[in-house]
Amino acid sequence: MTQKLVVANWKMNILLHEAVALLESVNIGSLHKSLVICPSFIYIPTLVDAFKKLDFGAQDCSANDLGAYTGEVAAAMLYEIGCKYVIIGHSERRISCGEDNQTVGRKLVKALESKITPVICIGESLEVRNQGSTLEHLFKQLEEIGISRNKKFVIAYEPIWAIGSGVTPSVDEVKAIFNKIKGAYPYLQLLYGGSVGPENADEFFGIDVLDGLLVGGAGLSAQKLNQILS
Ligand code: PGA
Repeated sequence: MTQKLVVANWKMNILLHEAVALLESVNIGSLHKSLVICPSFIYIPTLVDAFKKLDFGAQDCSANDLGAYTGEVAAAMLYEIGCKYVIIGHSERRISCGEDNQTVGRKLVKALESKITPVICIGESLEVRNQGSTLEHLFKQLEEIGISRNKKFVIAYEPIWAIGSGVTPSVDEVKAIFNKIKGAYPYLQLLYGGSVGPENADEFFGIDVLDGLLVGGAGLSAQKLNQILS
C-alpha cells in the first residue's frame, strides 16, 4: 500500500441525500490518502455512479454463493455494482448477529472469489484486555479466520472497548501489537480503528507499520474526514 488507507464505516447512519451532501464536501481532488467509503448496501450504486473518483466498500457480505438466502447480499453482487472493498467481521456483527471466526473466514473466501478486497476486523473485549490476553486473542482470531502467513490481507485491529467510546489504546500499545502481528504475518496490511478522529489520527499515522485507519463516527463528518485525509 503506497498511500495510507482510510476506510469510513458509515454503519446504519445517514440518509441518502445526506450521504450525497457529505461526499460533495469531501476534498476528493486533493486527497493525500486513499479513501474508501462504506455506506449501506442500498446507497452503493447511486454513490458509485455519482462519485467516480472515490472507492466504495460494503459493510458485510454473505458467506454463501448466490442462492436462497433471504435478506443476504452476495459478494458477487457487490462486485457487479462497483464495490472494491468489504468490511468483514466487524465486532458489531459478531455481537449482534453471532458471527464467529469461522463465518468470517467463509465470508473472506467469498469476497476473494469475487475480486473484492476484504477488510477483516479483529479486536479484543475489555475483559480480555484486562486479563492481559489481547495478543493471544488476536492471534487466535487470525488463526481461526484462516489468515495465511504468506498472503497479503487487510486487517483492521479494532479493540471493542475503543469503538464509539472516545477511549483508545495508546499509540505505543498499537505499535507493539502491530509489530507482534507483523512478526508472524509479515504481509498483512494493518489498520487501526476505534475512536479515531482528527485529534488523534496523525499520531496513529505516525506508526511506521500502520497502513491506515478505519473510522466510524468521524467518517460521518466531511470536515473531520477532510482533516484526517489532509
Ligand atoms: P468509531 O467506530 O470510529 O466511531 O469508534 C469505529 C468502527 O466501528 O469501525
